[in-house]
Formats: sequence, C-alpha cells, structure tokens
Amino acid sequence: MSSTQAILITGGAGFIGSHVVRRLVNQYPEYTIINFDLLTYAGNLDNLTDVESKPNYHFEKGDINDMELVGQLLRKYNVTGIIHLAAESHVDRSIEDPLSFVRTNVLGTASLLEVFRRYTKEAGINGRFYHVSTDEVYGELGDTGYFTERTPYSPRSPYSASKASSDHFVRAYHETYGMPIVISNCSNNYGPNQFPEKLIPLMINNIRNNKELPVYGEGANIRDWLYVEDHAEAIDLIYHKGKDGETYNIGGDTELKNIDLVRTLCKVMDEKMGRLLGSAEDLIRFVKDRAGHDHRYAIDFSKIKNELGWTPATDFKTGLAKTVDWYLANDAWIDHVIDGSYRQYYERQYGQ
Ligand code: NAD
Ligand code: TYD
Repeated sequence: MSSTQAILITGGAGFIGSHVVRRLVNQYPEYTIINFDLLTYAGNLDNLTDVESKPNYHFEKGDINDMELVGQLLRKYNVTGIIHLAAESHVDRSIEDPLSFVRTNVLGTASLLEVFRRYTKEAGINGRFYHVSTDEVYGELGDTGYFTERTPYSPRSPYSASKASSDHFVRAYHETYGMPIVISNCSNNYGPNQFPEKLIPLMINNIRNNKELPVYGEGANIRDWLYVEDHAEAIDLIYHKGKDGETYNIGGDTELKNIDLVRTLCKVMDEKMGRLLGSAEDLIRFVKDRAGHDHRYAIDFSKIKNELGWTPATDFKTGLAKTVDWYLANDAWIDHVIDGSYRQYYERQYGQ
C-alpha cells in the first residue's frame, strides 16, 4: 500500500470509531483521515476534541446511504481505502425498531460498497474495503466451545441478522467484483466514550446516580470483553497487514457472566466513589429477560494471533479501572449524550 493513503472511516464519531480515528490520526501523520458520520444519537464529536485540529484529520457529516455525497467525498479526497464502522449497534434497540437496522446496516453497507466499486473502477485503483463486524453473527454458544472464522453464521437478533447480511454483501463484492476486502468479527468492547445504553456504561451511570441496576434474566449470560483501544490496534493491523478476502476473529480472552461483571463493577465503583454506607450491589435488580437473549459468546482468536501477532494488551481489571475513572472524570460528556431522546428510550426499555 502506498504511504500517501487517504482513509474514509465511517462511524468515526461513535464509540469504537473514535478510538480508531484517534489512533490512525496520531500514528500516520502522512495519511489523510476522513471521519464520515451522520451524528445519530450515538455519534458525538466531543469524542475527538484532541485530534480535531490536526492537519491530517477531516470531518464530513453525512449518511452512508447517500451515494451521491459519498461519491463526491471519495473523489474530493482521492480516497484509497474505507474502514466501515457506521452502524446501528444496540441489540435492544434492534428489537424495538428492526427496520432502522436494515436501513443502516444492510442497505447502508450495500450502498457504500457499490459507490466504492464504481469509484475505484473509475480511478483505476485497488482500494481496500474493511468491514468491522461482530461475533454475534455466529449466534450463541452453550457452556463450551468457541467461535472460529469457520463457524457457520446463525444470527438470532435483528441486530446480528443485519450485521450478518452486511458481512455477506462485503464477501460477495470480493467474490463477484474482486474488491479487496477484509472483515473482522469482534466480541463485546468496553472503555471510554461508550454510549450509556450498553451494559458497562449504563451500570456506571446508574451507580453514579444511585439508580437501580437492571440485570436481564438471572444474569447468567456470558460475554467476552475487550478493551476498545486493543480493538483499535487490531483494526489498524488488519487494515494494513490482513489478507484480501479474509475474516479475522478478535476477542478479549475475558469471559464473564453478566452478574459477576456487575458485582465486580459495583466493588470498583464503591472504592472509587468512597461510598460510606452499603454497596452499589444493593441497587442490583433482576428484570425481565431480553427476547432471544444469546446465552454465551466466546472467541477463538488464534488466527489473528498466529498470522498477525496480535493479542489483547489490557487485562480486564486495568481496563475496567481506566473506564470507571474516565466516566467519573467526564460527567459533562455523559450529561451531554443523555439527551431527551435517550431518556425516552430508557423509560420505554426499563420503565420508571
Ligand atoms: P456506536 O453506536 O457507538 O457508533 C455508531 C456510529 O455510526 C455513530 O457515530 C453514528 O452516528 C454512526 N452512524 C449511524 N448510522 C449512520 C449512517 N447512516 N451514516 C453514517 N454514520 C452513521 O457503535 P460502536 O459500538 O462504536 O460500533 C461500531 C461498529 O463496530 C459497528 O459496526 C458495530 O456493529 C461493530 N462492533 C461493535 C462492538 C461493540 O461491542 N460495541 C463489537 C463488535 C463490533
Ligand atoms: P450489551 O452491552 O447490550 O451488549 P450485547 O447485547 O451486544 O452483548 O449487553 C451485554 C450483556 O448484558 C447482554 O447479555 C445483555 C446484558 N444486559 C443487562 O443485563 N442489562 C442491561 O441493562 C443491558 C443493556 C444489558
């Protein structure tokens, strides 16, 4: 790949996207990095104040479904590759409004692929399309076993079905048109800047406000957790060194039962907040289970480890402490992202 790259990062104002943008802007001052984001409820430019004045960083607001605008931007910046993270990303919202997930994740990805195919043909370049996806496309596991890159797709929520569909489109563009693509399927991320609808920041925010902690079902579901900066590092590596047409699974080697994770978080928050009476654990409430709640996710990431030398660098204890410190130091960020529309969603999802 040439050293004068221009990479369009979609969804760069979101949780994972902002960490990817920051990493690439700082690591590759000679590149042009374009953050293309619609700024939905989940996108927030406050996530990137530290890089916004760098000469190699550009922000463009828009929708991945807007093929004309995307085409113009590809030409304007002579884009050499795309890292695609823009998506609707929350399972509970996909249960409430599945079609918005089809619109963004399926149609949006297909539109982006098509406009990139036409642009690269016209420009005579072999630009790479990197699709950032989830392990949820593989469905759920029982108490044993791991997802590998050869596990058959078996999505069970509207979110994972939309991501599985977009993965198929990306692969189809490789097989049909020879587009140089890579896909990664990653487990649950946590860290600074995550919207407080997801488990860890939702619990941190509720503890901070002395609100109940809603644990679905019996809290027995298991997720594998990865610190977001480790994911950004893996994305950087796969974008530059991954093989065309390949899929890489990314995992954190940290499987936890939800209830154990929440209890650990309560202890960390008790210490950090200097709670004098009782424990945040007193706020835990077991609530109605999520429909179609996947039992367990666990990742075999030996392919990226053996082929590209990546392993997660941050252990869960360190990552969780850093995450809690960030949220406690950034009250204003939380208050800003929790606007009226999020409050309405929260009331629909959890009641008063
Ligand atoms: P997020 O919800 O925090 O951010 C999504 C971003 O996409 C937001 O900035 C939003 O404004 C933008 N966006 C939404 N619709 C858009 C559109 N039509 N056009 C342009 N921009 C649009 O999501 P996230 O958690 O950062 O996830 C990023 C990607 O990584 C997603 O594709 C997700 O499926 C995938 N992923 C997430 C996780 C996780 O644990 N969060 C794990 C594995 C994979
Ligand atoms: P989430 O952060 O929504 O990620 P995903 O559904 O993509 O794995 O949820 C992580 C786990 O936490 C999942 O098993 C559902 C559970 N959960 C709760 O128990 N309570 C909550 O309020 C939320 C948002 C999630």
